[in-house]
Formats: sequence, structure tokens, C-alpha cells
Amino acid sequence: MTVILVKAERTYPVTLTNSWTLELQRSFADRTRVAVIVSEGYSPDLSELRDSDSELHVFTVPDGEDGKTIATLTKLWNWLGAAGFTRSDLIVGIGGGAITDLAGFAAASWLRGIDWVAVPTSLAGMVDASVGGKTGINSDYGKNLIGAFHSPVGVVIDTSFLQSLSDRDFAAGMAEVIKCGFISDPKILDVAASHSVDSLRNSPDVITELIQRAVSVKAQVVASDFKENLAREVLNYGHTLGHAIEIHAKYQLRHGEAVAIGLVYAAELAAARGLISSTELDLHRSILSSYGLPITFERQAWPKLLPLLALDKKARGNTVRFVALNGIGKTVRLEDLTSAELDAAYERISS
Ligand SMILES: NC(=O)c1ccc[n+]([C@@H]2O[C@H](COP(=O)([O-])OP(=O)(O)OC[C@H]3O[C@@H](n4cnc5c(N)ncnc54)[C@H](O)[C@@H]3O)[C@@H](O)[C@H]2O)c1
Repeated sequence: MTVILVKAERTYPVTLTNSWTLELQRSFADRTRVAVIVSEGYSPDLSELRDSDSELHVFTVPDGEDGKTIATLTKLWNWLGAAGFTRSDLIVGIGGGAITDLAGFAAASWLRGIDWVAVPTSLAGMVDASVGGKTGINSDYGKNLIGAFHSPVGVVIDTSFLQSLSDRDFAAGMAEVIKCGFISDPKILDVAASHSVDSLRNSPDVITELIQRAVSVKAQVVASDFKENLAREVLNYGHTLGHAIEIHAKYQLRHGEAVAIGLVYAAELAAARGLISSTELDLHRSILSSYGLPITFERQAWPKLLPLLALDKKARGNTVRFVALNGIGKTVRLEDLTSAELDAAYERISS
């Protein structure tokens, strides 16, 4: 068992374990009621949790983004009210990032904030969504527009969940792991480069090491900037174009797939400025594509993507800002990019 402490508005443990039910049950101590939120798309066997002394209430919501809606949240609030949930009770989200985002926001908003625990079951959930304290749902105007910073009291990671995760979702999660390698921990790149989705599935120690390293990168950044003022921006490496592609593709691409393209684009921008070498640029392409992740996007989409870049959270006024590398493991902010530089980099990732 490994524990990584995240220092945010509270300090909480991210526990990597091979017995998630035992670990989770520790957080049930002194809780009269526990609400477990799972999705229709995926739920592990919850029978062992029923052995605890707390009343267990299971709430099943639509899968993925369909569950991150105000309609689902309203049902959830009513259900918590009907079951008599008080401030000393607990909410647990068991599932992918969509579930932990919803569960966290239900916990943030019920009675102005009750405790919650995240049990991420997707790789993206383990290395990204469950760590960092951002919770939320989608609005008609965009993804994650309604939310709160509300850290869990604990995160429980058990890599055995990954056995049933699709190759596509596994690879999408690897995009965030690889991003952590580029921005802060080059060892991640060495390990990722010598494996594939298949080999990682058969090497529990290696995937555990990668998750541990990626969580540590995120934990360190979050500790320095919980509410996303400036330092936390580095976690958005690859996300500026990535978000634009996600919106343009109407969320038909996995988040990690869009980020993979965005990582190559940001690397192209940096290489053109001489901030990284052609070998470092090629490394982006080779590692990401070895996981089957996309590294190019439609040429004709560029005129539609450009205005979307300005909507990105990193845009300030009319200036588009990119997180870029100044060598592996070192980040810089690019704020003075010309249209010609943006166009030329896109041309190099066009298909
Ligand atoms: N809060 C944050 O900081 C943060 C960061 C990154 C992403 N997110 C959010 O996370 C979500 C994306 O996360 P995701 O990629 O996990 O998506 P997801 O939650 O939609 O899960 C993807 C699919 O995998 C299935 N699944 C999950 N675990 C499984 C398992 N062990 N076996 C089989 N199937 C399984 C789900 O049912 C779903 O169909 C988005 O809503 C995104 O906004 C939040």
C-alpha cells in the first residue's frame, strides 16, 4: 500500500491499495449513512461494503457525461434529502471521472459541504479527475461550468479496476500520465515508452508506478496552487488545443485523445521557437502514437478551432496562452504567439 498526501484546503490521502473495499470501509467509521454513487455503465460488486455498520444507500446515475447534469443532480439532492443525509454522513463516488466529478459536487453542495471519498475506476479518474479537488457538472453552455473546489477526505485507487476498462479508455488515461512525464517527471516517459496498453495490463507493478508518479506530479502542483491561479496552469499542457478539439468534435473523442493531439501541437509551437529539440518533439509523437492515441487532426477544422482557442480558460482578454516546454520537465507560458506561428504549427499536425 502506498499513500500520497495531497495538501489542498485540507490534507487528504490518496491510497494505492489492492483491496479497495477494506480501505474504503475505514472511512465509514462513525458515519450513520453512506451514499455510494455509481453509473449505469459500470459498477463494481458492492456486496462487501454492505458488511459495514453504516446504512449503505446506492444511487445509480446515467453513464459518462449524461450523468453530469443538473437533472441528475436534482434527483440526487432529493434522494439525499429523502434518506435523511446529515453533515456527518458520507458520499462516495465509485467510477470514472464523470462519477467522481458528480459525487464531489453533490458533496460540495449538500448542506453546504459534506465529506466525500473518490474511488476512481478509470485510469483518467485515478491520475487526474479524482485528485485536485475540482468537482462539477456540465451546463447547456459547456462542460464543467457549474462546480466547486471541494477536496475529498480520501481517494482510494485499486488498479484491479483497470482489468475491465476498454483499451480505448486505458490509452486515453495514458495521455494524462504521459503529460505528467513531459511537464515534470521524465522517468514516466522512460517507463511509458517501453510499454503498451497490453503490457501495462500485465504488469501491475509498472502501472502502479506510473499512477503513483502521475498522482505525485498533480499533488505537488495542486499543493502550490489549489484554486488554479497560475502555477496549476502547467497541468493544462496540451489542453488548449485539446479542449478546442473536444468542443469541435462534440465530445466524440475521449478527453485524453484530444489532449494527445494538443500535446503534439504545443510541442510543435515550442520546437518552432527552439525551446525543445526535434528529438524531444518526436518523442511526443512516438510515445503517444505507441498507445494508439491520435496525433493529427483534420486540416479543414483549423478555421473553426481558432475561435475556440480564445474560449479556453487560459485565454486572458484576446490573447491565447499556451503552456509549452522549455526542455523535458520544464514548462514555460507562451503568450505572444503570432497567427503565423499558430497556423504553421497546426499545418504540421494536420491530416
Ligand atoms: N475534476 C477534475 O479535475 C477532472 C480532471 C479530468 C477529467 N475530469 C472529468 O472526468 C471525466 C472523464 O473521465 P473518464 O475518462 O473516467 O470518463 P467516464 O467517467 O465517462 O468513464 C469512461 C467510461 O469508462 C467506464 N468505466 C469506468 N471505469 C471502468 C472500469 N473499471 N471498467 C469498465 N468500464 C469503466 C465508464 O462507465 C464510462 O463508460 C470528464 O467528465 C471530465 O470532465 C475531471
